[in-house]
Amino acid sequence: MFEKRILCIGAGYVGGPTLAMIAYKCPQYKVTVVDINPTRIAQWNSDNLPIYEPGLDEIVRSTRGRNLFFSTEIEKEIKESEIIFVSVNTPTKMFGAGAGMAADLQYWEKTARQIRKDSKSNKIIVEKSTFPVKTALAMERILTSTDNEIHFDVLSNPEFLAEGSAIKDLEHPDRVLIGSRETPSGLRARDELVEIYSNWVPRERIITSNIWSSELSKLVANAFLAQRISSINSIAALCEKTDADITDVAYAVGMDSRVGNKFLNASVAFGGSCFKKDILNLVYLCRSYGLDEVADYWEGVIRINDYQKEHFVLNMLSAMFNTLVGKKICLFGFAFKANTGDTRESPGIFIAKRLMEERAELVITDPKALNNAMIDLEGIEGKITYAEDPYESSAGCDAIAIMTEWEIYANLNYEKIYRSMSRPAFIFDGRNILDHKRLFEIGFNVFPIGKTALTHFS
Ligand code: NAD
Ligand code: UGA
Repeated sequence: MFEKRILCIGAGYVGGPTLAMIAYKCPQYKVTVVDINPTRIAQWNSDNLPIYEPGLDEIVRSTRGRNLFFSTEIEKEIKESEIIFVSVNTPTKMFGAGAGMAADLQYWEKTARQIRKDSKSNKIIVEKSTFPVKTALAMERILTSTDNEIHFDVLSNPEFLAEGSAIKDLEHPDRVLIGSRETPSGLRARDELVEIYSNWVPRERIITSNIWSSELSKLVANAFLAQRISSINSIAALCEKTDADITDVAYAVGMDSRVGNKFLNASVAFGGSCFKKDILNLVYLCRSYGLDEVADYWEGVIRINDYQKEHFVLNMLSAMFNTLVGKKICLFGFAFKANTGDTRESPGIFIAKRLMEERAELVITDPKALNNAMIDLEGIEGKITYAEDPYESSAGCDAIAIMTEWEIYANLNYEKIYRSMSRPAFIFDGRNILDHKRLFEIGFNVFPIGKTALTHFS
């Protein structure tokens, strides 16, 4: 009844939305997403999806049960599919050789072995997760290490979606990259994947390359994006010393069409599950090929990001008279960026822990990430409370620190908030989303990123 049967192993932030988009755009294909985590699958099958993404609910609702299915029956689904996307997690390895740097490849290895065990017919295996270069070779070696005569073609098809805009990114991608072996069978497999994306992506946006270039391009794309943020954040620190304004500098620099104006927002630091891990992975790869200078260069992107978070805390400490003991600080936002409930590697985690070390008292508010925040900060000594309402959260506080650029925080009634806070009242805008002059006029002492602070102290 269906033209193709497509499976995705891993029902996470990438597997779920990506395959939902394929199902949505291609009613002629049967699309199934499986996971070892039964709770996650149950959530995908419920009205309460496991992740928050604008537009995702609608797409899942219109396809689930029609040609999109979520299941825990991995063995059966592997048998029945022709194309298998692998979208399992690839976190940083925390043990043994390469601990803290290399990618932990145990999840995809288990997946590859399971595919080999359960396959009864030829298949195309698509690397959707972000892998180190040459993973496809290891994958091929595992898949072909029995003599069952089943033929596997391994493709690399890295995902470039960003959280919070996943549906838009999937529907209108800048590009879709497909890497393949340059053998007749590899090229045929590549064409089959091109055909799937051609259902909605303009052909000129689907680019192909050899498989190693494709694997490497994904790591490099994330490294370049993160590098821009570290570059602008490093200059923000200089602005704070020189009365230059980071917004003006970013605007002037970004007007040069060779540089471009995107991804130049100075911030408390970048977070998210991938930038840090993918750069560490790149650094590890370079070191393992003896390219220490190249590794040092990219490691600098992470060093500046770590510096930025500590710099933010030290700024708060020095602004608030060098002691935070017993002071009540409200974090506006905990997600690593707006429009997501994801808190992985969120700068909020580091800042919250450091403020607790300084013996402050915390109130955390976020429209989507409070459950994750509670998990991230479990067991931390001291008083942390959580509340949905920013007005209630900030009442009685000495300071507000903006951690996430949620639009609601730019549009609050700050007169009302000021009236409910302790004096002197401070705002540390870790995202530069507020009207600083206006806040100063209300009475706040205002500390943006990369701009002169506005204080009422002489
Ligand atoms: P995730 O942790 O949300 O999801 C991974 C899922 O894989 C989990 O639900 C886990 O239970 C499942 N899984 C692990 N081993 C399994 C196995 N053997 N069989 C079945 N299921 C298994 O991760 P994610 O954020 O979706 O990321 C997946 C990959 O995509 C990573 O390599 C990541 O670097 C890459 N990526 C992520 C993003 C993003 O925005 N999150 C964007 C682009 C690329
Ligand atoms: C990033 C990339 O943008 C995606 O292309 C990629 O697919 C994905 O990583 C991945 O591989 O996981 P994501 O981490 O979801 O996507 O979100 P981004 O929009 O890139 O933001 C990352 C972090 O940088 C956030 O904390 C964000 O607030 C911060 N940021 C972003 C800034 O501080 N300044 C900016 O100008 C832009």
